[in-house]
Amino acid sequence: MVTVDGTPVAGVHGQTLATVLLADGRSHWRTAPNGGPRGVFCGIGVCFDCVATVNGVPDIRLCCRPARDGDSVTTQNRSAAQ
Ligand code: FES
Repeated sequence: MVTVDGTPVAGVHGQTLATVLLADGRSHWRTAPNGGPRGVFCGIGVCFDCVATVNGVPDIRLCCRPARDGDSVTTQNRSAAQ
């Protein structure tokens, strides 16, 4: 079990955090500077579109990060309005 912005989300052993979020029905978890939603694009660790804060560490690529029980994922917002 991981949490996403404080909400519990179940996963399966072996999943990455990105696949846990995708399986939960989430298509994005970051906001780009232009305000656009971002989630998985390449899925192989190249584009950095899938970054989020994990256990307090920002800019973690969720497509590369194996999910671990108790992980806390926080979405990131870097829109120009902030
Ligand atoms: S989806 Fe491209 S780095 Fe994760």
